[in-house]
Amino acid sequence: MTHLADSIRSIRQMVAAAKAEGKLIGLVPTMGALHVGHARLIQQARQESGFVVASIFVNPLQFGPGEDFEKYPRDLDKDVEKCQSLGVDAVFAPTVEVLYPGTPLTFVEVAKVTEGLCGRFRPGHFRGVTTVVLKLLNIVQPHRAYFGEKDAQQLGAIKRMVIDLDLPVEVIGVPTVREPDGLAMSSRNRYLTPEQRLAAPTLYRALQAAGQTIAAGVRDPAQVRQAALSMLECERQIEPQYVEVVDAELMTPVEIIEKPVRIAAAVWLGSTRLIDNIYCEVK
Ligand code: PAJ
Repeated sequence: MTHLADSIRSIRQMVAAAKAEGKLIGLVPTMGALHVGHARLIQQARQESGFVVASIFVNPLQFGPGEDFEKYPRDLDKDVEKCQSLGVDAVFAPTVEVLYPGTPLTFVEVAKVTEGLCGRFRPGHFRGVTTVVLKLLNIVQPHRAYFGEKDAQQLGAIKRMVIDLDLPVEVIGVPTVREPDGLAMSSRNRYLTPEQRLAAPTLYRALQAAGQTIAAGVRDPAQVRQAALSMLECERQIEPQYVEVVDAELMTPVEIIEKPVRIAAAVWLGSTRLIDNIYCEVK
């Protein structure tokens, strides 16, 4: 049975009762419109915890002006049903007024990790993410919290926040779940027209092509980027925003590839922005 909590008090009571029974608490923060990627996070939390909380909150603080906050897909009933079928114990779905009763004046910002990649093009985005995640961690106080590698820069920022602020939680990164054709699952994929949907897997294929150059011994990030860009250029519907080879932890550009890196990219397909990344080890 999945309980629905829309107040801070009620989710805290549910968690306190579970803790009193000696249960480990797992938290999966989401913005809803749940898909198989979210389900994978929930399944892992289910395996590793006695009480699973999924939060559903479209966080206005992480959307910039002109971004898709208003049109972001929302369907709480369907999401709660999915949570129920995945064995979630409690869904925490507060309104904006509950989480931000007044204009917030306090923010948490992780430097360096959030400066490049998406941070360059979405000013304030990661500040909004880390602030809401810190609030959710404070409200729920889980033992473990689960985040997808799909959003590797977000995961990196949250990991660093937890270290730097001594938060008593273990952050677990979960590998990206993909459609059969390679497209990373995302709530935003539903914005794509059928024609754009056909073109979308080129993003992952381009990252793979770039990854193959590293596997073949290339150590110059410019050459690796070019491999991805050349493939993206072949798909006229895709307009690349960035392709970068970054340090796998700090998410900062590398000059030479000698440690594990991530190749990360963002592209526009019409008015929809898609991101993806792959992890590459160096042998
Ligand atoms: P949202 O985009 O709903 O994603 C919720 C979680 O699911 C994130 O940790 C994200 O990385 C993960 N996820 C999304 N697609 C995935 C996929 N294809 N494979 C694996 N994991 C995937 O990310 C957010 O919400 C928000 O920024 C949030 C952390 C909830 C803060 O508001």
